[in-house]
Amino acid sequence: MKLFEPLTINGMTVRNRIVMAPMQLRLGLGNPRARAFYLARASGGAGAIIMCGTSVDLLMDDAAWGRADGVARFVENMRGFTDEIHATGTRIGIQLWHGNLWPAGNGGPMPGAEPVAPSATAECRALTIAEIQAISAKFAAAAATAQKAGMDFVEVHGAHGYLVCQFFSGADNRRTDAYGGDLAGRMRFGVETVQAMRQAVGQDFPIFYRLGAQEHRPGGITLRQSQAFAVELQKAGVDAFDISIGATAGRSASPGPRAKPGTFVPLAERIKAAVSVPVMALGRINTPELAEAILVDGRADLVGIGRQLIADPFWPDKVHAGRSETITACLSCNRCFQPLRNPDWSWKSDQPLCKVNPKAGREMEG
Ligand SMILES: Cc1cc2nc3c(=O)[nH]c(=O)nc-3n(C[C@H](O)[C@H](O)[C@H](O)COP(=O)(O)O)c2cc1C
Ligand code: SF4
Repeated sequence: MKLFEPLTINGMTVRNRIVMAPMQLRLGLGNPRARAFYLARASGGAGAIIMCGTSVDLLMDDAAWGRADGVARFVENMRGFTDEIHATGTRIGIQLWHGNLWPAGNGGPMPGAEPVAPSATAECRALTIAEIQAISAKFAAAAATAQKAGMDFVEVHGAHGYLVCQFFSGADNRRTDAYGGDLAGRMRFGVETVQAMRQAVGQDFPIFYRLGAQEHRPGGITLRQSQAFAVELQKAGVDAFDISIGATAGRSASPGPRAKPGTFVPLAERIKAAVSVPVMALGRINTPELAEAILVDGRADLVGIGRQLIADPFWPDKVHAGRSETITACLSCNRCFQPLRNPDWSWKSDQPLCKVNPKAGREMEG
């Protein structure tokens, strides 16, 4: 199957085309629960894992950890973890995120942090040019930390209406300076951020970019704009694209049971037509038949699988071994958003994360 053909991305060979999509489950990063969760997906045969959207502050600012050696400890702790993942043959990267309202993203805002956006909103104040450039520098420093921690690659979270995505969206970016206005202005922050990251990590370290390629709202991102943006991002140093949607108002980035399987594949296909680096497609790619068809038909080079790997970490190995009938199917019910949406959620309670896999997030419990 094409699904099990290796692919090399800027010198990094991934053993197959299956990439675990980033999912923030409030597991933490290097603790035993998180390690066991990711290790199960690596042992289950995923080619690469993208760790959850993680605030850039956590990877470059000790204050985000509330201790003087926070980042150094992160590096030390993650080194052992990335070694364990590598021993399974899986590649591991981390998604770098700036979430406007929750700048630290580690369960709450950094002390004294203010919600910010490209243009002022009811909740956020507009960033100054110096602050915008400082955020690009944070992404660069965070990428360098991930590299030191033994990660194989990093991904920029440029989707789902968070800060990076907002700069590109005409619906959110109403600036009239160099970081707004026309398409070139709205692309500037993303492009400069990738350039800064490339400089920080050197030429040979893969940078993925999750691009929110379309929005359905007045003035929002169009596919044609995203094609132009992807071309500029590739020139700036992006080695692979992961294609999702922009602002999620009215359209979930994690489509429900009635959504078409392969929901965002048509967006990936259009970006693939514009760039010459690998492109990953997403959205309810839950069956091997669909995953294989996407690759064979040349619609994408990689398949991103999120919730199906919560439901069954061994999906890749089962498919490879011809045991697809033993797969525990994901219901697309989105119960796994509980840790993010339910303020009373706690891993210490016995509430299951997943409707079909009671062990998800509890792999360390044996
Ligand atoms: C609980 C949960 C948390 C998520 N967290 C992130 C995240 O941190 N960053 C991100 O870009 N997407 C996030 N996503 C979206 C997934 O990466 C993926 O794009 C989406 O679920 C569609 O893929 P799937 O149908 O295979 O799950 C999350 C999805 C879920 C279900
Ligand atoms: S909780 Fe529902 S959507 Fe989430 S992984 Fe489990 S079955 Fe899939």
